[in-house]
Amino acid sequence: METMSKRYTITAALPYTNGPIHIGHLAGVYVPADIYARYLRLTGNDVAFICGSDEHGVPITIKAKKEGVSPQDIVDKYHAIIKQSFEEFGITFDNYSRTSAKIHHETASEFFKTLYDKNEFVEETSEQLFDAEANQFLADRFVVGTCPKCGHEEAYGDQCENCGTSHNATDLINPKSAITGNKPTLKETKHWFLPLNKHEAFLREWILKGHKKDWKPNVYGQVKSWVDDGLRPRAVTRDLDWGIPVPIEGGEGKVLYVWFDAPIGYISSTKEWAAREGKNWEDYWKNEDTTLVHFIGKDNIVFHCIIFPSMLKAEGSYILPENVPANEFLNLEGNKLSTSKNWAVWLPEYLEDFPNQQDVLRYALTANAPETKDNDFTWKDFQARNNNELVAIFGNFINRVVVLTNKYYDGVVPKPSEYSEVDKETLATVKAYPNVIASSIERYRFREASQELMNLARLGNKYLADEEPWKQIKVDPERTQTIMYVALQIASALAVLSEPFLPFTSEKLKSILCHSELDSESDWADVSKKDVLLPSGHHIGKAELLFSKIEDAEIQKQLDKLEASKKANEASRASADIEPQKEEINFEDFSKLDLRVGTIIEAKKMPKTKKLLVLKVDTGIDTRTIVSGIAESFTAEEVVGKKVTVLVNLAPRALRGVESQGMILMTETADGKLVFVNPDETEATNGLKIS
Ligand code: 2FM
Ligand code: ZN
Repeated sequence: METMSKRYTITAALPYTNGPIHIGHLAGVYVPADIYARYLRLTGNDVAFICGSDEHGVPITIKAKKEGVSPQDIVDKYHAIIKQSFEEFGITFDNYSRTSAKIHHETASEFFKTLYDKNEFVEETSEQLFDAEANQFLADRFVVGTCPKCGHEEAYGDQCENCGTSHNATDLINPKSAITGNKPTLKETKHWFLPLNKHEAFLREWILKGHKKDWKPNVYGQVKSWVDDGLRPRAVTRDLDWGIPVPIEGGEGKVLYVWFDAPIGYISSTKEWAAREGKNWEDYWKNEDTTLVHFIGKDNIVFHCIIFPSMLKAEGSYILPENVPANEFLNLEGNKLSTSKNWAVWLPEYLEDFPNQQDVLRYALTANAPETKDNDFTWKDFQARNNNELVAIFGNFINRVVVLTNKYYDGVVPKPSEYSEVDKETLATVKAYPNVIASSIERYRFREASQELMNLARLGNKYLADEEPWKQIKVDPERTQTIMYVALQIASALAVLSEPFLPFTSEKLKSILCHSELDSESDWADVSKKDVLLPSGHHIGKAELLFSKIEDAEIQKQLDKLEASKKANEASRASADIEPQKEEINFEDFSKLDLRVGTIIEAKKMPKTKKLLVLKVDTGIDTRTIVSGIAESFTAEEVVGKKVTVLVNLAPRALRGVESQGMILMTETADGKLVFVNPDETEATNGLKIS
């Protein structure tokens, strides 16, 4: 546990301002970051907890286009919504800025210029993807195609959301414009590239050989695999009109890549805060004694562990992150969260539907946090966490202590007499809790920490159930005093130690126990150090319910909302236009395709992928290996023996190190299930041509 005060810069990923915050963001980033920041403050550290809105990037311009408004309108709207909902939810950022702020434009431009002046960029004119119809270069989310690394067919120009790899748009296989659906052409343009290859040695030393082995295995593993695969220069400028103008000669009409400017947003937000609070921002970014921690979701790992550290290193005067505790994803009722499909629990709606119940969601998300693997949020689990844990354990214990203290002693903490062995053991266990919980928090194991907190409440409940003060009061009033005294110490410890997890509850409980009237209010460490948290003679207040039962009807209302989203999606999918016919081809083009009847004779799952099966296919010509992205629709066992249509003369390509020699034709049903384009099972022999 921390004893010495240290300086921390804690950052939470800057959310894109193209929609409100949902439970995926909260569970992945903001709740754990807030627990960590609150804990560090409670243990006496100097903390700058920094965030802001990420207002550049293609998704915002796409949203603006769709709604027929300007990108500025979009970011103004969502910046306000996001900021307010964070505040209401009790996320204690020391500063929440935005990347359209003047100070950010200045800071990012200056950073770019410094790297430029230090010759840290490679300037290159190259051919980039271009949509002639839209008269637009296709960067980032303006282009989708097949990921060169994992075969995912909807990878974006800068990143594949399936495997997390970041790449250049020209690396995509079969790229398609997200604006018109057209196949892009190539057009020359000049850009500035950050030569990541130049920083490979540093990254190896810093992450792989350094002390970063204590990083979460998912983070360390991803970073290692990228560095092992070899790093290439990445363009840090774009031909777009929304963003921070490239601040050097020749950069006219171009902007900084959103992932170049966004992490610098952490620095500009710190500057804004420091100016307001009379602090020196450089202490928080340039002093080796400061610990920098980035809280992010797993899709942001490459940017925070490879690209931003390379930028900071190239600049030369900044510290590097001590840890990047990225979380996995949270699903909702078994399906991937999706803004466009409205498959989410939106924070502003939650706050409206469950007023004053911020802590319930904080607790449910923490107790089920996607720390080591993707997890599922279900409304039933949310209800159970509330009813069976917060109400039945934590709330019940506190209520009994407060009600009995008022009933027996008019709200005055009684004097204990002799302690039994159980009393001594119980008090000693309570004293150990700050360390137990702190040790989990300091290792970024927030779900474990939240369960330890609940264990402390369980201890209190069990103590009362075993000692039965309601029976003792009739036979041994002196013993009852001791029992209630011990129980009150546990209640007071809970008030202090719950603050990072259940801040609203902690405040309410402190007020019920009249903590502010104590000579000295206890902090985290005092729970271990002090023998007495609530002294005899101290007055407490009246009982108030900390949590209330959530009824089935409330849960059903939420499930109905989701059902309505599902129905709306199905309806819009069913009525969606059939894809328009592709551009005309001549017979010669067609006859180039060599399609054959084949049979799958062997199949196995590609390790560490969700979608890929490695198939052995008898094509009549030969038996060959084909890697196919069908594992989400079929198991390996069920495809063996299937007759299929195979494109046999497709140039071989490597997927995850396995050479795929052809392609199996598939179609997709309205509900997203893949189906084989199946030649007639009885008549067709392997090798027959399809024409
Ligand atoms: O993934 C996202 O939502 C990004 N807007 C996160 C940016 S984090 C940072 F670097 F600013
Ligand atoms: Zn991929």
